[in-house]
Amino acid sequence: MTRQILVLNGPNLNLLGTREPAQYGHTTLADVEAQCRAHGQALGYGVECFQSNWEGALIDKIHESGRLFREGVLLGVVFNPGALTHTSIALHDAIKGVETMPVVECHISNVHAREAFRHHSWISPVAAGIVVGFGIEGYLIAMDALVRKFGSAG
Ligand code: DQA
Repeated sequence: MTRQILVLNGPNLNLLGTREPAQYGHTTLADVEAQCRAHGQALGYGVECFQSNWEGALIDKIHESGRLFREGVLLGVVFNPGALTHTSIALHDAIKGVETMPVVECHISNVHAREAFRHHSWISPVAAGIVVGFGIEGYLIAMDALVRKFGSAG
């Protein structure tokens, strides 16, 4: 059975490609997801992609992922929580609730070089690691990190 990686995106990331291109680039979410799927295949993993603008839908997905992780189906999650990074104790608790499942927090922009309200993350304390500021390459780097650290050869 091919193990899976979940690439999870939060609010407004469906607007990638047209939203603030100076900050986030011109690549659409569909293109990012296609790149992740191709990269997963090269790494020997299946990739599921999910985006929602709703905090509760993301929480449900993390709970479901925790179950798939326990069943050995899922390696872990690459998660760009968008602005919920800076506000959501509920997402923090959801990740904590499925504690052993590795979640790599990923941000396209360097949030630390931006407004002060983006400097705090509720996700970082419960993340396995963080990839910040490498543009959309960051998703692929986060996948590499998951596989290197938690994959069967890791
Ligand atoms: C983001 C950074 C967040 O501060 C912002 O709210 C986003 C995108 C990023 O990928 O750089 O929506 O997570």
